[in-house]
Parts: sequence; structure tokens; C-alpha cells
Amino acid sequence: MKFEIQKAELKHASELLQLYIKVAGISDGIIRNKEEINQGYVNNFLKHSIENGLILIAVINGHLVGEIHAYTPTIYAFQHILTDLTIIVDPDHQGKGIGRSLFESFLNIVKTNLDHIKRIELYTREHNKRNVSFYKSLGFINEGRQKDKIYISASEFETPLHMAWFNPNYNTKE
Ligand SMILES: CC(C)(COP(=O)(O)OP(=O)(O)OC[C@H]1O[C@@H](n2cnc3c(N)ncnc32)[C@H](O)[C@@H]1OP(=O)(O)O)[C@@H](O)C(=O)NCCC(=O)NCCS
Repeated sequence: MKFEIQKAELKHASELLQLYIKVAGISDGIIRNKEEINQGYVNNFLKHSIENGLILIAVINGHLVGEIHAYTPTIYAFQHILTDLTIIVDPDHQGKGIGRSLFESFLNIVKTNLDHIKRIELYTREHNKRNVSFYKSLGFINEGRQKDKIYISASEFETPLHMAWFNPNYNTKE
């Protein structure tokens, strides 16, 4: 089925919430659990990414089926970074190339239009080999494991990798 990639707008807030609730049920996916996904969380990253980052959506027949975003922290020293990158695709539409297309579009926009961005950062669970190899295939490098950073229960933790991608078109001019 044909999908389109476009920039997200504030009007997509409620559809995005529904998509995040659906995807939050998948184990090994996003770090937040279902109870932590609410309209406030979505509105916050949507506004922040539109104003100070990048957010793209994948749409099929006007219906939102995927999203990717990252934003620049409001700290002078981190102005060259897009961080906390998150990507999700509707479980009913996964494995059809939508995630790769969203991610490649995202990186192409950074290379073409955001030459003040030098690095993009994300976390992924070390044991989720599929996601790790997906990000590596896009040019991300493994910057190291953060042992037991993710709390599951008092006796169970998970270890994420911190991964980064570097913009080949970063402009060193002030
Ligand atoms: C990760 C995610 C965004 C990928 O989206 P997608 O549309 O399913 O991905 P694609 O179909 O474009 O495939 C991307 C890559 O994933 C891998 N992949 C896809 N389906 C796979 C499968 N069934 N088994 C193994 N690897 C698979 C492949 O490496 C693929 O690369 P390819 O393009 O060379 O085939 C999606 O699975 C998802 O939303 N997962 C839950 C949330 C999550 O984990 N988000 C990332 C953390 S923020």
C-alpha cells in the first residue's frame, strides 16, 4: 500500500497519541510504558520537535501509520545535536519499509537543510538485534552500553546502547 512521508503539524497530536498507545504495548519497543503515554507527553515532543528539531509522519490514505522525531536540547553546548530520537510504525504496517523510508527521509532532511546539526542520538535495547542492525545500516555507530539503565523491576533491568549518527554536511562556519 502506498504511503507518504510529510512533516507533522500540531493538528496531528491526537492521532499521534493513538499511535503511541498502540505501539507502547509492544515489548522491546519504546522505553516508556503504556501508562506514561498521554496527550501531555505527545504535545510536548510534537511542539519541541516542530520548533527546535524535526518530526515526520508516514500517512496512508490520510491515516497516520508512522512517526519519527528528535529535537535539540535547550542548552547552548548541545545546539549541534538532535537527541532522544524515537521512531514508531503502526504494528499493522510494520515490515513494509515504512520505518526505513521515514528514517532515510529524516536523515536526508538533516543533510540537506540542517547543516548546524552535527550529531543525532538515540537509545536502543542491546538485545533488540533487529533494531540495532537497522540503525547500523543507516550509519549509526554504537557509542557504548549503559548497563542496567532500564528498570523493569527491582530484580530485573535491561541494558541499552547509546548510538549516534554524524552529519557529513555539518557546516563548521559560525
Ligand atoms: C522499529 C520500527 C520503527 C521499524 O519500522 P518498520 O516499518 O517495521 O521497518 P522496515 O519495514 O522499514 O524495516 C527496517 C529494517 O528493520 C529490519 N526488519 C524489518 N522487519 C523485520 C523482521 N520481521 N525481522 C527482522 N528484521 C526486520 C530490517 O533490518 C529492515 O531493514 P531492510 O530495510 O534492509 O529490510 C518498528 O518495528 C516499530 O515501530 N517497532 C516498535 C517501536 C520501536 O521499537 N521503536 C524504536 C525504538 S524508539
